[in-house]
Order: sequence, then structure tokens, then C-alpha cells
Amino acid sequence: MRILVLGSGAREHAIITALLREDVDHEIIAAPGNAGIAAEVQVIALDPANPAVVTEFALENDIELVIIGPEAPLVAGVADRLRQRGIAVFGPGKAAAQLEGSKTFAKRIMDVAGVPTGRATRAGTLDEAIAAIDSFGSPYVVKADGLAAGKGVLVTTDRDAAVAHAGYWIGQGSVLVEEFLDGQEVSLFLLSDGHNVLPLEPAQDYKRLSDNDEGPNTGGMGAYSPLPWLPAGFVDEVIDTIALPTVRTLAAEQTPFIGLLYCGLILTAAGTRVIEFNARFGDPETQVVLPRLITPLSGLLFAAASGELGGMPRPQFSDDVAVTVVLASEGYPETPITGRIITGIDTALAIHGVTVAHAATALSGGDLVATGGRVLSVVATGSDFGEARSRAYLALEAIDLEGGQYRTDIAQRVAE
Ligand code: AMP
Ligand code: GLY
Repeated sequence: MRILVLGSGAREHAIITALLREDVDHEIIAAPGNAGIAAEVQVIALDPANPAVVTEFALENDIELVIIGPEAPLVAGVADRLRQRGIAVFGPGKAAAQLEGSKTFAKRIMDVAGVPTGRATRAGTLDEAIAAIDSFGSPYVVKADGLAAGKGVLVTTDRDAAVAHAGYWIGQGSVLVEEFLDGQEVSLFLLSDGHNVLPLEPAQDYKRLSDNDEGPNTGGMGAYSPLPWLPAGFVDEVIDTIALPTVRTLAAEQTPFIGLLYCGLILTAAGTRVIEFNARFGDPETQVVLPRLITPLSGLLFAAASGELGGMPRPQFSDDVAVTVVLASEGYPETPITGRIITGIDTALAIHGVTVAHAATALSGGDLVATGGRVLSVVATGSDFGEARSRAYLALEAIDLEGGQYRTDIAQRVAE
């Protein structure tokens, strides 16, 4: 198949790695990609969030499937334009992508669908926000309403910080003040063709910068899959009470969701609750879900894009476990220092079970340099979490990036 993958992060690198692992040879083009992706497939410098440019490129190059990695092209309507021109695309249109792009929209859909989520109040003025902050009480949860690149959510016991966060984001639009939900977090990805869903295996993401879940929220500092502590029947429960009602509600509203429904869940004492939906594969969870996938990814994504998931068997996964640890630049998440040289990746790749998904890398005068906050996702598989963890951390020790930071406790709780 001729496949165009839009995006430039470790998630896209992991998607491409899974496509390249299939028995069939695909012709893969990535736009814009990064240095790691460019070492494996053709990359093309085009703006992945420009609907006209992407569609013209896809038509001229006889692309049979477009896989949209990040949220920006979805919210910009790239999938709509491709679909109008008859190109199979894995990723929802602009309207359905509001499930991620607007927390107010997501809350309304959950309300209509009867999906369990935290109570929330939308505030358009600081006075409204303060009233909601005091009414929900500590710990305070304040979220920017629109896309905020992982920076929009503050969970804190510091009321002044909650009020300041609300004030900042109200300046950009509006905020949601939410009930604090206490429990383990789970990311579950479901493929949707607009009507039917197929689950991938759950993963857990580590959102905070530092060990023991300290420090600021980030885009994600590591992940592992599967989750051995999940109750039996968990995935079926999420399908029945969350994913299918959501997909059916969106279809009934003439905004079918075709793509990856990312359910961000918290297992509270009162039951499973949605904290957020995303309209795309999660990063870094993709880096631990896809290496374990046995069923060919291209077939699954093409079937979803073509409305043909109904009656298909659930994707198969290997018994191996997977762990990923993100290497971030000094200063991440506030002000990452970029341009520093990365060495040692070849040594890391020589370790059995290790792959390295590039996130923000480029070649500069023959050197591999960091170009952003999250630089690499080191991925290791193993027969158990102890093995996968030791491989991942051995690989990280081999890689050198001045000032680079990573958590040392990813998957520790399941390895003990
Ligand atoms: P979000 O971007 O909505 O996923 O939020 C980022 C992170 O903030 C989540 O992964 C949780 O760790 C935390 N969070 C968000 N909403 C809540 C909530 N209502 N209660 C507790 N933690 C939350
Ligand atoms: N890992 C969280 C996200 O992709 O949004």
C-alpha cells in the first residue's frame, strides 16, 4: 500500500516502525517526519496541517491511505478534505475532532451519550472560575478549553495557583473547572470506523516530569503496556459504557468519528471515569502498544478508514510487555534547550529488544541534534517488566544528551 503518515514525533515513528514490520512491503512517505523517520522512509517537507497541500500531494502521489498522527491537522480539517477527494484517511474530520479540540464539546457529547466523567463547570470570567474553584474545593483541577499542547491542565492543592492558571487561560478563551478524580489512570485506544470500534491493549502514561509523579504536567514522560492490575472485563466495560455510546452519539449528530478514539480514564472508587478524549494515538503510549501488536496495522487502519471494522476480530497482541522512557531536553517542559548533540543511539539499539523512536531530532552538519522538548522515546520489550525496564534503562545510559532528563521509575510498580 502507498501510505502517507502525517506528523513528526515519536508516535509517528512508532506507527511507521509497525508498518515496516509487516510481511507486506509498503511504500511509506512521512510528512514532515524527523531524523529518525528519515533514516527509514522517504520524508517530504510539507505542512501536515494544510488541507489543500496535503490533499494535492496525496492525489499526485497515488496515496491509498493517509494516517494522521497529531491533533493539529485533524482540527484544521485535513481529513475532511482528503475524504471529499475519495482518499482513505485514518483520522476524524474537523467536527468530530472537537472531541479533543474542545473540552466543552467533549463534555456535551459525554452528557448526551451518558458517559461517566467528572463534574465540570465552564467559566468565561475569572469570577465564575473562582466561584467554581471554591465550590469544587481542593485538589483543584483547572483546564484550558481548547488545544493547549499538554500545558492546559493544572491539578493542585494551591488555590492561588489554581486561580492564576484560570486567569491566564481565560485570557485565551475559557476554562473548565473540574471535580478531582482519584485513582489509577489508563489510556485505552479504540479504532473506530464511525460506527464500530475495536480495542487495542491498555497502557499507562506518566504525565508528570519527575519521579514519584512530582513536577509539572508534560506531554508524557513514559508508558508501559499491558496493565496486569486491570480488573477482568475492563476493556469490554469501556467499549459498552464509553466508546460505543460516544461513537454512536457522534454518528447520530452527523459527525462520525473515523480514527483513533483515545479514552483517557481514571479508575475511581466509584467506577471508571473519562478524564479526556483525544482524537488520535497517544504519545508515548503508542510506543508501547504498537510494538506488541501482531495483527498488521495497515489492515486495521485501512478497514477503519473504509468503514469496514464491523465483524472484524479484535487485534492480536504478543505476550511480551513493553516499556518506554522519554528522554527530554534540559528545561522541558517550560523552555527546552534545543540544538544539543545526541550520541550513543547505535549502542542503545544493539541491546536486545530495544528500539528508539525519534521525537524531536534533526541532522545538522552530520550531527544528530535535539530540536524540541521530548527528544526520543526509548522503547524496550521483554518477557516481563523487570527485563523490559532493565533493557530500556541500559539503553538510556548509552545515550548522551547534555542536560537530558528522564524518569527512572517508569513501570517500576509492575516490575516489583
Ligand atoms: P488531560 O490533559 O485532561 O488529560 O489532563 C492531564 C492530566 O491531568 C491527566 O492525565 C490527569 O493526570 C490529570 N487530570 C486531569 N483531569 C483530572 C481530574 N478531573 N482529576 C484528577 N486528575 C486529573
Ligand atoms: N500521552 C497523552 C497524550 O497523548 O495526550
